[in-house]
Amino acid sequence: MSSDNTQDSVSSATRSYLIMKAESKEALKLAEEWWSEKEIPSYVKISTLNMDDIEEFVDLYNRCFLASPDPFCPLTSEEALKLDTEGIFIAKLAGKMAGFIACFVEKKTESIYGEITGIGVLPNRRRKGVATALIKRATQYFLDSGAEEVYCEVYEENIPSQMLIMTYGFKEAGRREVPLQPSSTSKSGFDLPGGKIMRRLGLRPRTGCETCRDI
Ligand SMILES: CC(C)(COP(=O)(O)OP(=O)(O)OC[C@H]1O[C@@H](n2cnc3c(N)ncnc32)[C@H](O)[C@@H]1OP(=O)(O)O)[C@@H](O)C(=O)NCCC(=O)NCCS
Repeated sequence: MSSDNTQDSVSSATRSYLIMKAESKEALKLAEEWWSEKEIPSYVKISTLNMDDIEEFVDLYNRCFLASPDPFCPLTSEEALKLDTEGIFIAKLAGKMAGFIACFVEKKTESIYGEITGIGVLPNRRRKGVATALIKRATQYFLDSGAEEVYCEVYEENIPSQMLIMTYGFKEAGRREVPLQPSSTSKSGFDLPGGKIMRRLGLRPRTGCETCRDI
């Protein structure tokens, strides 16, 4: 999780994801404070994703990202069935899915850290604290898993997402450049556009694809 790229070295043929980092405890505290200051609808319920609800999740994921500046490749039911649902939390309003957050805990030899690999809220449910509720649940999950630090990547043009996570103590720790035209020879997937949830599934936004966007 380091970066040696400066703004000057970013070529016009690339775009960047900002690598953002926060202390899990700090993010949880800030998310809790938001809740104590605001009236959050008591019918916002957070639960883990159940595979029986995968069709509703696919619809939710695609609707969230259609209304986002991020490079995007729609999720299909087939791909969603490959997801490990551990760490994927759903926000429901009145029994219907309104948002999700996908979390992974990376255990390395010398460190353990959390990653938010995707977050989205339906356009008509935004600015009501749904993402805050999901971040609150995610940071609790990271702390329970022993991850004191949490990372996420935010597309440089995604200002709402940057505003959201900066509210919860995330600061820029590096950048990941992606080529405008992803290489078909990429093995690691590191240079692919798209958040990690997409990269883990091998979903590649690509030029000329009718269903992909913004690449
Ligand atoms: C980013 C996103 C998840 C925010 O969800 P949300 O439920 O609207 O966020 P919240 O209501 O919890 O917002 C909490 C705080 O974050 C900040 N914030 C959230 N959205 C913001 C925006 N569009 N502009 C400015 N600040 C924003 C504000 O400080 C807000 O508190 P306030 O409403 O009291 O001002 C949502 O806009 C979204 O789904 N975007 C599309 C998907 C996406 O881009 N995901 C990120 C990439 S993985």
